[in-house]
Amino acid sequence: MAPMARRIILDCDPGHDDAVALVLAHGSPALDLLAVTTVGGNQTLDKVTHNALSVATVLGLNGVPVAAGCDRPLVQPLRTAEHVHGSSGLDGVDLPPASVQPDPRHAVDLIVELVMSHDPGTITLIPTGPLTNIAMAVRREPRIVGRVAEVVLMGGGRATGNATAVAEFNIWTDPEAAHIVFGESWRVVMIGLDLTHQALATPEVLTRLAAIETGSGRLVEQALTALGRAYRANRGFPHPPVHDACAVGYVIDPGLVTTRRARVEVELTGRHTRGMTVVDTRPDAPNPGTTLVATQLDRQRFWDVVIETVRRCG
Ligand code: BDR
Ligand code: CA
Repeated sequence: MAPMARRIILDCDPGHDDAVALVLAHGSPALDLLAVTTVGGNQTLDKVTHNALSVATVLGLNGVPVAAGCDRPLVQPLRTAEHVHGSSGLDGVDLPPASVQPDPRHAVDLIVELVMSHDPGTITLIPTGPLTNIAMAVRREPRIVGRVAEVVLMGGGRATGNATAVAEFNIWTDPEAAHIVFGESWRVVMIGLDLTHQALATPEVLTRLAAIETGSGRLVEQALTALGRAYRANRGFPHPPVHDACAVGYVIDPGLVTTRRARVEVELTGRHTRGMTVVDTRPDAPNPGTTLVATQLDRQRFWDVVIETVRRCG
């Protein structure tokens, strides 16, 4: 008998790599996508929600609620990633007008409602943007902590940053929210830059995607081509890392990613280090923590899973 599909909520800010994450979340038979929620991050909330609805339209995602959430971080103003994702948040991707309508519920309410109405341990949260909605949901209904199976988030890094020398964009955008999420007793899996910088969409990957002549194949190929242009122009990368897709990839098949357990603290006050994830990897660390920190990607298998899942989407 095939194992039960894992129920997931994708909390995202599309964003090129979020769009790929959404394709995988919908297309994988290993996953049961209960809802898509959006948060201000790569672009304003209005724009990322519009993008999520347009991607949902390409995927024919009817019956899965797409709900908008928080439009700004808990404490500081929103600083978008326009230099990477463009003024629309998905520059370079041809999207149809959205025919999928937004769900009227606030994302935070929807997350709480879904987690509280399903059996404990059956819903995995996959945040691929700033953690504002997830932190708000925890504050709104603390009992979700004991009911969520895992929080598999794209964010942070062990020794590297992208928004600053040491801070990754999603954590840097809302460090207070990240502090709340990492501080709860649920299992957090941190898919950080150490891992996602191993998931580079090389020309060989793009060629494989181009051969999938479907709506979602074209969408993913265009998203990664545009992301590649931005990463070459602004970040000095030869090929773009497909950050958010790695978090969904882990949930599809945890064997794709090696992890190690460590305590993670979010730096809130450092003059040069605000938004950094401080990962205690000392063998004699006084408190091993509950977070699983991703270290190593099985690249070949990861891309095979991505390509196969995109192919299945049609
Ligand atoms: C993260 O920041 C965003 O720009 C991407 O969508 C990804 O979630 C990478 O640091
Ligand atoms: Ca994102």
